[in-house]
Amino acid sequence: MTILLFGKNGQVGWELQRSLAPLGEVIALASGSRELCGDFTNLEGIAQTVRAVAPDIIVNAAAHTAVDQAESEPELARTLNALAPGVLAHEALRSGAWLVHYSTDYVFDGSGDKPWSETDPTGPLNVYGQTKLEGETAIRCSGCKHLIFRTSWVYAARGGNFAQTMLRLARERDRLSVIHDQIGAPTGADLLADVTAHALRTARQRPELGGLYHLVASGETSWYDYALFVIDHARQAGVHIKVAPESIHPVPTSAFPTAARRPLNSRLESRKLQTTFGLHLPHWQDGITRMLTEVLEKRS
Ligand SMILES: NC(=O)c1ccc[n+]([C@@H]2O[C@H](COP(=O)([O-])OP(=O)(O)OC[C@H]3O[C@@H](n4cnc5c(N)ncnc54)[C@H](OP(=O)(O)O)[C@@H]3O)[C@@H](O)[C@H]2O)c1
Repeated sequence: MTILLFGKNGQVGWELQRSLAPLGEVIALASGSRELCGDFTNLEGIAQTVRAVAPDIIVNAAAHTAVDQAESEPELARTLNALAPGVLAHEALRSGAWLVHYSTDYVFDGSGDKPWSETDPTGPLNVYGQTKLEGETAIRCSGCKHLIFRTSWVYAARGGNFAQTMLRLARERDRLSVIHDQIGAPTGADLLADVTAHALRTARQRPELGGLYHLVASGETSWYDYALFVIDHARQAGVHIKVAPESIHPVPTSAFPTAARRPLNSRLESRKLQTTFGLHLPHWQDGITRMLTEVLEKRS
């Protein structure tokens, strides 16, 4: 079996290289790959890549993920997040390949306080969310066999992430302000990649299970409580932390104006995925603890 992976160096793409390896030969491409085009700004190029490789499965981990930047470059965001996935879907339909794709909690408007289910109405607040929604629609309307996983607050041990930024700031500053009114679930790229491999194995046997699934770690938190958890873990692990617990302040989203509006309620309901594929999604704190252990061990 041949698997064609786009976006191999991103948080999720990196972990997919590992988790997909036991399923078959993985041909993994980055935007700058030479022999085969992996650049999503070259739509004809990626179509040619799919035709040349003739994969059984296409996995798309590439995207325009710079949420604020997308506001000032909507056409580029649309090309990467909507048009390119549409091309992959078209090629998947033509060849009979499966297409795996990732989307986001930002397709919702963030109202209310209930976890969003797959059938809830969408209403993106920003260009990133709008273009990701267009990408989902292109795939769903194409008629190709697909799995779309909507997730949230993705982190990985490799590269920068919110937890590492909080750790740095907590060591440098004696006062911190962190947003308390956006609620979601930090979800590890490793969990996303492992669940992808499990779901793919099942869906290939039972194509009727293809479709849209919410995939996030269990539980929920705010960026503020997430930061407290990270800093407390580091303190207990013996890391020198400058900021005192009482000097970490919860602030509303409005305290940090950004180019893109962000949803307050980013909760996603993952029951459909768990029951369909017989999977258990661990609590967000489990994954963050593992990631912190890895990051802090590397430092010492
Ligand atoms: N990060 C989050 O918090 C989050 C939340 C919800 C959903 N998601 C979704 O999860 C998926 C994976 O996200 P991630 O966090 O792993 O993203 P990431 O770490 O930002 O990686 C994005 C990838 O996109 C690739 N890319 C950028 N421009 C490209 C181009 N012109 N052509 C081809 N590839 C290009 C980059 O590849 P190069 O380095 O090779 O350019 C990079 O590998 C995305 O669909 C994203 O929308 C992410």
